[in-house]
Amino acid sequence: MKKSINILFAVAEAAPFAKVGGLGDVAGALPEALNKLDEFNFDVRIFMPFHARVHEYDPDRRKIGNFNFSLMSGDTLECELFIAQIGSTKVYLIDNEYINHNSPIYHGDWRLDGLKYVSFSLMVLEASKFIDWKPDILHCNDWHTALAINALDQHYANDSFFKETRTVLSIHNLPYNGWGSQEAMSQLGFSPSTDPDLPDWAKFTPLPMGIAATDLVIAVSPGYSKEIQTPEYGCGLENYLSKHSDKVMGILNGLDIDSYNPETDEIISHSFSSDRLYQRLMNKLHLQSTLGLEVGHQIPLMTMVSRLSHQKGIDLLLDSLEQILHLPWQFVLLGTGDPELEERANNFAKSHPEKFVALLKYDENTARQLYASGDIFTMPSRYEPCGLSQMIAMRYGNIPVASATGGLKNSIFDYSDGLDTATGFLSHQFSVGDFSQTLAKALSLFTDKVIWTQIQRNAMAQDFSWHHSAITYAQAYLNLINPDIPENKTLIDEA
Ligand code: GLC
Repeated sequence: MKKSINILFAVAEAAPFAKVGGLGDVAGALPEALNKLDEFNFDVRIFMPFHARVHEYDPDRRKIGNFNFSLMSGDTLECELFIAQIGSTKVYLIDNEYINHNSPIYHGDWRLDGLKYVSFSLMVLEASKFIDWKPDILHCNDWHTALAINALDQHYANDSFFKETRTVLSIHNLPYNGWGSQEAMSQLGFSPSTDPDLPDWAKFTPLPMGIAATDLVIAVSPGYSKEIQTPEYGCGLENYLSKHSDKVMGILNGLDIDSYNPETDEIISHSFSSDRLYQRLMNKLHLQSTLGLEVGHQIPLMTMVSRLSHQKGIDLLLDSLEQILHLPWQFVLLGTGDPELEERANNFAKSHPEKFVALLKYDENTARQLYASGDIFTMPSRYEPCGLSQMIAMRYGNIPVASATGGLKNSIFDYSDGLDTATGFLSHQFSVGDFSQTLAKALSLFTDKVIWTQIQRNAMAQDFSWHHSAITYAQAYLNLINPDIPENKTLIDEA
């Protein structure tokens, strides 16, 4: 049997063990999709902290052992290592006094998160040595694990175990750079990056340090990989990223198309397909009646499933809805988050009870009902590295009206480019004027059943499966391992 290519996938969260957002979805699906590529021989293993949430989920697991790490201070950090599985993918759960079984995935306290993730980044490498499993690729994700890449040079430079290891850093959300972990970094023996191209503030900040040290940066969509090289989205790292653009690429995330399948989804009240859209309508009528809204197929139903954060543009959405109050529509919002935005949404619902329902909670079942019932799905994001909801919405025939940014731009085909390809509507300026006009345009086209059905069928026919993305990741890994092979030559035969 051919030797496998070992990929150490280090990440803060992975569904279904522990998930806060899209990062958890990616980690729960991409490693498995890579392991399933028959034409390659990848052995991708997830390394994640043993959070309290993992404990609650209580996966089948086995303890592998304890290992120690000597700190600069002379103290020893003791770690426990467990193994579990997500699908057929091995998951190593690491615990130590900073991670400890009781900690939330993110403390929201920079000092505690710093200690947790800086130590985790080091322990990931120690754990792979402990199990004697040499990674060909160390694939880190976001600031939480970025420092594992720096540790290769700063802690393991003379260790032949990692001599051949090449590195990848995925950027899911650039503004979260790990600022505040400085004390933890000093305590755990990290020193500032010496890369002269990094701005001074970034030299001792986890995510930029990882970006400078890694062989390849992968943003979670081609659009975002370009945007982060501009002052508007680059968070102060745009000059670094554009100067080093040869090591920056973008790969669009995928979607779990088996779990999100309107034909087999048992949670929605009526399953349907693009040939049986009349059955889809039953979901809408059911939802309207459950929520006490006027029941009628001709009233356009808009939906949104989102974390209520500044990034997601809830403020812009509410201001835009204000502009089109004279039009007939209903809106159902599902999500939790920033208390101020929750209050704004609540107030809007109180002022317009016949039009707007705010469900300030998150539950997967209601989310699926909304995807399956809505006519229009809104995503007015200020920035969106990839975004998953628009893909789920399209798969369920719920037509996105979204900002033309990041992954939204890469996954939604705008109606203005022609009905043949249209899968949604993009708003090109982040403004109330533009977003409300885009909504009004979608609402008026909704009344033309021929056009609307065509857009729905186009949207539902798109292939967002992880398989596609996994092939591109595979190619990127192999190019790193064999840099001499020309990029456009397929490596599948040689793998
Ligand atoms: C972050 C981004 C989101 C992306 C997700 C997974 O949550 O905000 O756009 O889809 O990471 O990569």
